[in-house]
Amino acid sequence: PETITVQELANRMAERAGDVVKSLMKMGMMATINQTIDADTAELVVQEFGHRVRRVAESDVELGMRGEADDTADLLPRSPVVTVMGHVDHGKTSLLDAIRNADVAAGEAGGITQHIGAYQIQIPSGDKITFIDTPGHEAFTEMRARGANVTDIVILVVAADDGIMAQTVEAIRHAKAANVPVIVACNKIDKPDADPARVRQELLQHDIVVEEMGGDVQVVDVSAKTKQGIDTLLEAIMLQAEVLELKANPNRSAEGVVIEAKVERGRGSVATVLVQRGTVKVGDVFVAGAEWGRVRALVDDRGAQVDSAGPTVPVEVLGLQGTPTAGDEFVVVENEGRAREIADYRQRVIREKQATAGARGTVEQMLSAI
Ligand code: GTP
Ligand code: MG
Repeated sequence: PETITVQELANRMAERAGDVVKSLMKMGMMATINQTIDADTAELVVQEFGHRVRRVAESDVELGMRGEADDTADLLPRSPVVTVMGHVDHGKTSLLDAIRNADVAAGEAGGITQHIGAYQIQIPSGDKITFIDTPGHEAFTEMRARGANVTDIVILVVAADDGIMAQTVEAIRHAKAANVPVIVACNKIDKPDADPARVRQELLQHDIVVEEMGGDVQVVDVSAKTKQGIDTLLEAIMLQAEVLELKANPNRSAEGVVIEAKVERGRGSVATVLVQRGTVKVGDVFVAGAEWGRVRALVDDRGAQVDSAGPTVPVEVLGLQGTPTAGDEFVVVENEGRAREIADYRQRVIREKQATAGARGTVEQMLSAI
């Protein structure tokens, strides 16, 4: 409803409720702190206190924290972020494992040891690629539904002995809807009954025209089992990335997306975050969905503690007060008060949503002094 209690309005502005009551009195309104006022009146009060007024749609409340676009002059090249999709058993996990093993930056650190839902590898050219290790399409769809487009490129895995199946079609649909370029990994090429030509034909029926047939979609024959074609696939990713001219400003407060979140014994709530712009540092105060925290430690995909993580670097963030949800926005904010305020507000929205679930259109507009 487009009303707010005096107390709540005061909370959102981080002002004393008594002062809000006084301000209302000056406007000729007698109100107690538990009384509700309409949105127009609230807006006047907010202006009176010198705060910025923003009426936001419900959907904005969840994603309204991101800062303004960066100046082009501040943008620096960044690595691509890749998601692997495909039909069940076509070899997504095997392919991600094969790629993980193709990392040339393993060195004495011992390579990628941690399973944190995403990892970054270095290829022989020195370029880096981040892979999101989603368990299925749901996470991808969910993130997209929340407006969090984390993926630059989709690797569509198709088993050469099986061809296009139901979930392959679904994945194609998702990629197209998200306007994300696809690279086809024609997998299990080592199998005697592999038929890569058939895969190309079937792709055609779903408007995926591979380069060999005059289209613009790269296709690479691979075997996650024998590692054949893995290097070529990684080169194809870099080629696609070059076309996309991916950039981000690393020199600003961090923003990103929660890839995975869980409670771990002895570590508390842990979230794997993919930083999209800016750089997150130990000590930063942040909001992740309806939770907040102060970064106690950052742990990379090699299990090493790091001081900071910039764009496209996946890190585990420790120091959360609660457990966020995969797909939640992660934003560093100025101070704890602000973090608390936003988290509280979002939790209220969630509770309100749950309370009004079924009652259509009740929370059309909300007032926020954020
Ligand atoms: P879900 O997560 O269940 O959807 O499956 P997935 O797509 O992750 O497939 P996964 O990597 O689990 O592979 C399924 C089966 O195919 C496993 O038995 C793999 O060993 C096998 N497999 C995967 N890639 C290859 C390959 O390139 N060649 C051969 N011969 N077998 C493969
Ligand atoms: Mg799998």
